[in-house]
Amino acid sequence: MIPINAPQIGEEEIKAVVKVMRSGILTHGLGAGPLVTKFEKAFTKFVKTKHAIAVNTGTAALHLAITGAGIKRGDEVILPSFTFVSTAEVIAMAGAKPVFVDIDPETYNISPRKMEKAITKKTKAVMSVDLYGLSADMQPIREIADKHGLLIIEDSCQAHGASYKEKPPGAFADAACWSFYASKNMTTGEGGMITTDDSEFAEKMRFMRSHGEKEKYKSLMLGHNYHMPEIQAAIGCAQLKKLPKFVARRRENAKRLGEKLKKAENLRLPKEPDGYKHSWYLYTVRLKNGKEKKRDKIVKVLKREGISAEVYYSNPIHLMPYYRKFGKYRLQETENAARQVFSLPVHPGVTEKQVDFIGESVLHAIE
Ligand SMILES: Cc1ncc(COP(=O)(O)O)c(C=O)c1O
Repeated sequence: MIPINAPQIGEEEIKAVVKVMRSGILTHGLGAGPLVTKFEKAFTKFVKTKHAIAVNTGTAALHLAITGAGIKRGDEVILPSFTFVSTAEVIAMAGAKPVFVDIDPETYNISPRKMEKAITKKTKAVMSVDLYGLSADMQPIREIADKHGLLIIEDSCQAHGASYKEKPPGAFADAACWSFYASKNMTTGEGGMITTDDSEFAEKMRFMRSHGEKEKYKSLMLGHNYHMPEIQAAIGCAQLKKLPKFVARRRENAKRLGEKLKKAENLRLPKEPDGYKHSWYLYTVRLKNGKEKKRDKIVKVLKREGISAEVYYSNPIHLMPYYRKFGKYRLQETENAARQVFSLPVHPGVTEKQVDFIGESVLHAIE
């Protein structure tokens, strides 16, 4: 089976993990062990930001950013519904209300125009998501946020190695959150990071990462245990060095697959608009209107051929049982996309020959 994504682990990661095990330093009481600190420094350089705070999942990163920003009961946070559930989850966990906004059908990311319409007196922040590895349209989002005095927390969990207007994810936001889950463009198994240029915000999130402590046993605020273990940081340091090559391979595979699929009449291929660099966490195609009934069958056929085609996301968050209580929404573009999309493997472990096989199998399956 060609998996939809696969961790790219080499000798460097294995050696780095063994070294940590031999060192006897597995973690740090305030979450700032030597390798965690090294990984954070390397990450700040990579995304050209002042601060990076390593945590143990992308969800923890989003939760720290939301609570560190002071989002609380009675507040509203705007976000897309066409994304992974973590984004809405952390808003609800903070006691605030997630307000779902429809997407731009070309990019699958939040529509800035529709976002502005959803702003109320209670809105405190926008959580944009860089879905599938393509940045949200951050410039208009920043302009609207500034006009209304809102914070922007960018969910860049899928966008390592992407850029927008030649800037890395997070450049237009108050904070960006990253995941290093095993499927991501770079991984630590499980892991996360928050990046920001705001020193006060960064310091607060560092305390909150470790029970609200600046010093042990003197909690200054409510916190959590969101420490990243040293083994994870060691893997992260090795993976970050390889990330540019991983993304280059994804880009080559995406280009080759795009060439193959060009002739598929009933398929809409993913776009990389001018000024964007896609990091191709997922290569997501879409069946044209009226053809969506065939989607699940096509995915099944591809799986039978040994290709792990997957649907991200068949059930938008506003339609999930728990999240229905936040309001009745009709998000036409989101719901259409949820019925029509499916993703294909382009990760660095996919060979050219396999890309050709995937392309041919898709052409065959949709006929
Ligand atoms: C868009 C998005 N947000 C948040 C997350 C949560 O990250 P994690 O699984 O590391 O908690 C993920 C990853 O699964 C994601 O893809």
